[in-house]
Amino acid sequence: MELPFIEPFKIKMVEPIHSSSVEQRERWIRDASYNLFNLKSKQVTIDMLTDSGTGAMSDKQWSEMMLGDESYAGASSYYNLKEAITEITGFRYFLPVHQGRAAENVLFSTLVKEGDLVPGNSHFDTTKGHIEFRKATAVDCTVEIASDLSAWHPFKGNVDLVKLEELLKNNPPEKIPCIIVTITNNTVGGQPVSMANIRGVRQLADKYGIKFFLDSARFAENAWFIKTREEGYTDKGIREIAREMFSYADGMTMSSKKDAIVNMGGFIGFREEELFQKATTFNIIYEGFITYGGMSGRDMNALAQGLYEGTDEEYLRSRIGQIEYLGTKIRECGIPVLWPFGGHAVFLDAKSFLPQISEEEFPAQVLAVEFYIEGGVRSAEIGALMADRDPVTRNNRFNGKELVRLAVPRRVYSDNHMNYVAAVAKNIFERKDKIKKGFRIRKEAPILRHFTIELERL
Ligand code: F0G
Repeated sequence: MELPFIEPFKIKMVEPIHSSSVEQRERWIRDASYNLFNLKSKQVTIDMLTDSGTGAMSDKQWSEMMLGDESYAGASSYYNLKEAITEITGFRYFLPVHQGRAAENVLFSTLVKEGDLVPGNSHFDTTKGHIEFRKATAVDCTVEIASDLSAWHPFKGNVDLVKLEELLKNNPPEKIPCIIVTITNNTVGGQPVSMANIRGVRQLADKYGIKFFLDSARFAENAWFIKTREEGYTDKGIREIAREMFSYADGMTMSSKKDAIVNMGGFIGFREEELFQKATTFNIIYEGFITYGGMSGRDMNALAQGLYEGTDEEYLRSRIGQIEYLGTKIRECGIPVLWPFGGHAVFLDAKSFLPQISEEEFPAQVLAVEFYIEGGVRSAEIGALMADRDPVTRNNRFNGKELVRLAVPRRVYSDNHMNYVAAVAKNIFERKDKIKKGFRIRKEAPILRHFTIELERL
C-alpha cells in the first residue's frame, strides 16, 4: 500500500477550544448585533473568520523571537529580514510595516492622488478602501469567468488583459499610478493568477509606461497553483516560481500574516531605489524608522524564518490539501460551493444555498450567522456588506456575489476539525428551507462598514 501524505509537522503546544450550546450562541450573536467581528473568541468553537495572523508559528520561529535585536536603528533582525526578502522575492529594497494595509497606506501615499485610476483584479477591501479614501477609483479588470461560481478554470483570479488594455489606452498615463494584481485573488475566492497572465500584465505595463505591483499576501499559495496547474512549471520549485512571479513586477505589498505565517507584520518590496526613497518618508511618518517600520526586531526575525517555511513545498501540499479536504466534504453533500476551491478558504454560494433570501436581506451574512448558531463556526461574509456602498451614489453595491468564506488558519486545525465544520454545513443545508428572513442594517460606518456594522433580524 502506498503510504498516505501526512502533515510535515507535529504539535508541541496546544490551546483549548471552547464549546457552547445553541441557546448560548443565539444570545451571544444577538448581543453582537449579528456581526461576527463583535463576538469574543471564547464564544467561538472553530474560528474561520480569517487566515490572517491566525497561523501557528514553528519552534524555529519562536526561537528566532528570542534572538530579536530591538535596536532602534540598524538591528540585525532588519538585516535578517532583508536577506530573506531578497532571496525569496528578488527585491533589493524594502520597508517593514506593521501589516498589509499599512503597506498600502505608505505605497499609495507615494503614488495615488485624487482622480486617479488603479486597475487590478478585484482589489481586496482595504486596498480598495485606501484607493477610495484618496478619492481615486479601483477598477476591477478580473476575467469574466470569475463571476461564474461553478465553472472550472485553473486561473480564475486572472486579469482580463483586453479590459486592462482598454483602460490603459483610453486614459492618460499620469492618471494611472500603478496596476495592482492580487495573488491569490482573495475577493473572487482565493483563486490563483497564472504566470502567463502576470507576464501579460508586465507587457502592458511596459507598453503604456505604468508601474506594476503585486499584492502578495498569498504568493506562495499562488506559486503552488502555478506549479500544479500551469504547463512548464511542474518540475520547478516553489521559490523559483515565486522569484519569476516577482521578476515581472516593480514592487510588492505584503501582509505577512498570511503566507509568511506570522501573527503580525508586513512589508513593501521595491525594484527601483527612487520609489523606495520616496516611500521612505511616508514609512517614517506612519510606521517607524526604516530599519524597523511597524515591527519589533523579534517579529522581523520570525517573519524572515516564516518566509522560508511558507514557501516549503511539503508544507504547501498539506496546506492546500486541507482546504481541498474540507471543500470536497462540503461539496459531496450537494452544497453549492465556489469551484475550484481557493488556496486559503472554501467559499459557499449563499445565493444558491438560500435562494429564498433576497439580496437586500444579505444572504451571505444570514448563512454566516447560521454557521455560528449551528456549531460555533465563525466565518466571514464576502457579499454586499463587505462591498460597501458606492462612494458616489451611496447605494448598496449588490455586485451579484454573496459568499461565505470558511478561511483555514495555517497549521492550526486538524482534519477532524474540518469534519466537524463539514457536519455543521450539512446540518444547515438539511434545514435550509426553514430559514425565511434576513437582516436589516441598524448602524454602519461610511467605509469598511462590515467590521463594525450593526444588524437586526427582519
Ligand atoms: N491584501 C489581501 C489580498 C488581503 O487578503 C489582505 C487581508 C490585505 C491585503 C490586508 O492585509 O490584514 O495585514 O492589513 N486580508 C485579511 C483577510 C484581513 O481576512 O482576508 P492586513
